[in-house]
Amino acid sequence: MVEDSPTLAMNARTQEMVRQGIDIISFTVGEPDFNTPAHIGQAGIAAIKEGFTRYTAAAGIPQLRQAVVEKLARDHGLSYNMNQVVISTGAKQALANALQALADDGDEVIIPAPYWVSYGELVKLAGATPVIVDTREEDDFKITPQQLEENITENTVALLLNNPNNPTGTVYGKEDLQGLAEVLREHPQVYVISDDVYEKLIYDGEEFFTMAQLDEEMKHRTVVINGVSKSYAMTGWRLGYAAADLEIAQAMGKIQSHITSGTSSISQKAALAALKGDQQPMLAMVEEFVRRRDYMYPAIKEIPGLSCIYPRGAFYIFTNISSYFGRTIKGKKITGSLSFAEALLTEGKVSAVPGIAFGADNYIRFSYATSLENIKEGVRRLADFLAQAK
Ligand SMILES: Cc1ncc(COP(=O)(O)O)c(C=O)c1O
Repeated sequence: MVEDSPTLAMNARTQEMVRQGIDIISFTVGEPDFNTPAHIGQAGIAAIKEGFTRYTAAAGIPQLRQAVVEKLARDHGLSYNMNQVVISTGAKQALANALQALADDGDEVIIPAPYWVSYGELVKLAGATPVIVDTREEDDFKITPQQLEENITENTVALLLNNPNNPTGTVYGKEDLQGLAEVLREHPQVYVISDDVYEKLIYDGEEFFTMAQLDEEMKHRTVVINGVSKSYAMTGWRLGYAAADLEIAQAMGKIQSHITSGTSSISQKAALAALKGDQQPMLAMVEEFVRRRDYMYPAIKEIPGLSCIYPRGAFYIFTNISSYFGRTIKGKKITGSLSFAEALLTEGKVSAVPGIAFGADNYIRFSYATSLENIKEGVRRLADFLAQAK
């Protein structure tokens, strides 16, 4: 059965408390807290004014598909043609299309945990079975080649990889991907669905690398998923894209044509401005995320009983809270990430997403897609809250 997100109840509770006028610092946010850069918004407005408001080709307007081709060549040295690109209603629909195209009843898709909340459910919607592989904090939450090998069966059709990672902030570098590719070469039936949606949110001079860049074979076997939501603060525009071998891209396009007829014409014009226009606002946003992380990461690590890996991408700090399990804070017994998150919300006035939502109950996800001022106050509240643990 397809499940509701376990975070929905928590979010509803947070909203209710905010409505009651209670001052909550929210670290739950899964999207940039910046406005879409002005030149991108203007392109959307121009599209409306020009009457560019009708159905487009289901796989997207040619100019945008061509802009994606150019982006993939410019940023990653990847060579595709326009017919291999499908524009979708967010990276989420691109993921859904890819899974519908590649997976069927009885098939298995490997998902490293902690994972983004929708992966397992999207696999189930395609009729296939998610095979969850728990990564380890000491491995920086990266699936190892050995773990991959141990979990491939004759039914495996894909590995679903998210890099940089939500919720851990880990980044797979070229060598990590090479290690995984060596295993995959022995299993030619396994594709890689590479969710690169946080690609631009990568820090400390680290170079982003996607599996398709390794060599021609891995390029054929990889479906590249990306979009403008996170990179350009465009979550509400609902625009993502995929690039893949022609046969897969065509299958994805057909599926999409029957489900949504493609994404909004207006958003496509705005995305064109995002990909081809001034990149400075995006770079300024990335700088601000670094400033926030540089404050929040050491501040959280200083709090007794908490640990976290150094997040090198995305905008999350995935924090190990398990040393508080079995203890009581302000009268609330802490038994797992849900009870921790609930107590932190009601008693500490801070909201965050319990790790159980990502398949890792020993953790909680703090997002730094909020102002530095909020981060300072929220971390102060977190420390005060935990100082009362008995
Ligand atoms: C890992 C990951 N993939 C995909 C998405 C979906 O992106 P979009 O808004 O483009 O559908 C998200 C959004 O939270 C995400 O965190």
